[in-house]
Amino acid sequence: MPMNKPATCRAIDMGRIKEIVMECGGNKWALIPVIQKIQNEFGYIPPEAVTVIAKGLKVFPSQVQGVISFYAQFYTKPRGRQVITVCRGTACHVRGAESVLNFLEDRLGIQEGETTPDFEYTLDTVACIGVCTLAPNVVINKQVYGDMDLEKVQELFKKGE
Ligand code: FES
Repeated sequence: MPMNKPATCRAIDMGRIKEIVMECGGNKWALIPVIQKIQNEFGYIPPEAVTVIAKGLKVFPSQVQGVISFYAQFYTKPRGRQVITVCRGTACHVRGAESVLNFLEDRLGIQEGETTPDFEYTLDTVACIGVCTLAPNVVINKQVYGDMDLEKVQELFKKGE
C-alpha cells in the first residue's frame, strides 16, 4: 500500500485554528479558505472549530456549518491516513468493482464510508472518476490504480506490509 500520509486525527489545537482564521483575513469572505486550510492541516473540520471560525469571521455558526455540509469534500470526522476510494460508476461496476469493494470491506473490517479504529484506513466510494477505460478503478491517496481485480488489490496490501 502506498504510504502517502495526509494529516489526520491529530490533537486539535484550537489556538492554531484561531491563527488560521486570522491568517486568512479574518472576515466572512475567507470562510471557504479557512475551512479548506483547517481540513488540510487536521484532515477534517473538528466540530468544536465551528464556533471559533464563526466568531473569528463574524458570521453565524449555522453559516459555517452550512458551508461544511454543502461541500462533499469537507469532512466532519477524522479520516484514515490511507484513503481508499472504489469507483462505483457503471463501467467500474460491470467490470467487478463490487467484488473489489467487498474484499476491501472484509480486509479492513469496515463498511464504505467508515474509518478503521486506528485511523489507518478510510474506505470511500465515488460515482465515476472519469477514466472508465481503465475500469474497475481504485484510488489510494489520490493515485489511480486501474484494471483492478482481487489479486491486484491483495498485492497492494502485501507491498505495504
Ligand atoms: S465508472 Fe469508474 S471511472 Fe468511470
